[in-house]
Amino acid sequence: MIRADKRGGKDHARPKPETIRLRVNGAWHELAVGRDVSQAETLSHLLRERFGLTGLKLSCEEGACGACTVILDGKAVLSCMTLAVELDGRSVVTIEGLPKDDPVIEAFAGQCEPGYGTALQCGYCTPGFVMASRALLDENPAPTPAEIKEGLSGNLCRCGCYAGIARAVWHASRKTAAKGGGK
Ligand code: FES
Ligand code: FES
Repeated sequence: MIRADKRGGKDHARPKPETIRLRVNGAWHELAVGRDVSQAETLSHLLRERFGLTGLKLSCEEGACGACTVILDGKAVLSCMTLAVELDGRSVVTIEGLPKDDPVIEAFAGQCEPGYGTALQCGYCTPGFVMASRALLDENPAPTPAEIKEGLSGNLCRCGCYAGIARAVWHASRKTAAKGGGK
């Protein structure tokens, strides 16, 4: 389930800057606080409404489901629990920023295996799982099944595709290893 440490903000006591610079999928953007981004705006809202990056999904909006997961400076974070104004100088990657042939994406799309099933049905949870899995494999390129389960424990799938998801991540890790290691 959700962890408070997946919030992306760093220092809540620091005075808020008048502008922030945020790197989104490789491109830097300067945002005026109060004009381009409000003090209370979440990263999820900013990414979806200002940048049009609607790959990340919103479901609970209270840190309980993982559908809004993005990667912030290499770590999976819940964008619905992260204040955008706290991210000056930081780098965020959404599912739109992953290469189309990312082994995780390919593994989720191709997963269909007796005993495990598919990695997605309705697909609503999929972007969050993909980003959490990408961050997991970047940190640990060859996780055990138990480590995969633990690493994805903050993400929920209402369609119950957990076995297929875990298997897809395992396949992605093996494919990455066969290509010569992690990113
Ligand atoms: S929408 Fe962010 S954790 Fe559920
Ligand atoms: S595939 Fe439907 S919620 Fe996960």
